[in-house]
Amino acid sequence: MITIALDGPAASGKGTLARRLAAKYGLHHLDTGLTYRAVAKALLDKGLPLDDEVLAEREAGALDLAALDRKVLSVHGVGEAASRVAVMPGVRRALVEKQRAFASRPPGAILDGRDIGTVVCPDAPVKLYVTASAAVRAERRWKEIVSQGGEAEYAQILADVERRDARDIGRADSPLRPAEDAHLLDTSEMDIETAFQTACVYIDAALGH
Ligand code: DC
Repeated sequence: MITIALDGPAASGKGTLARRLAAKYGLHHLDTGLTYRAVAKALLDKGLPLDDEVLAEREAGALDLAALDRKVLSVHGVGEAASRVAVMPGVRRALVEKQRAFASRPPGAILDGRDIGTVVCPDAPVKLYVTASAAVRAERRWKEIVSQGGEAEYAQILADVERRDARDIGRADSPLRPAEDAHLLDTSEMDIETAFQTACVYIDAALGH
């Protein structure tokens, strides 16, 4: 059994990295951002407010991790709404319980998010913190949208990334920050392949390879 905690800000490349690592090591993978996104989407779909803790906690408690649909939940506006529901301790409590249960399934799991190394799985033997400058992350997001035929304005995306960082870093409950024992991977100057190879070195060492 091994647990790998992978944290980092929005658009840092942690999702891609987590999927590749899960495939290589044969581990379950949970993108915990999707759990916050699903709660936000459920509230939006029902026309309910995003800041009512009782309602949001109810949605979090009813969430089925097996039903998370990445395609539907990846929409930009849902990410923004997710960072708003994620400030509520009741929502976090309900989702963290489900995330921990997921992490305990053999043969082990990789969870990516904001607070995996600090709160959800503080005993994980491998903790990675993937980051990049806001400008680099906004540029990646912009290229992704444009390459899919979408329209986007770089300045707008940069402003969104910065606002989301401020909310994720500034919240009182489980703010985004690297665990003290996390390995830092700054992808501003490192491509995803190099980040992947570096992460493998840390994981192999933990597995005793
Ligand atoms: O990684 P993402 O963009 O899908 O995350 C969406 C929001 O969910 C993010 O802005 C903050 C919140 N989140 C969180 O608070 N804790 C996590 N472990 C994962 C995501």
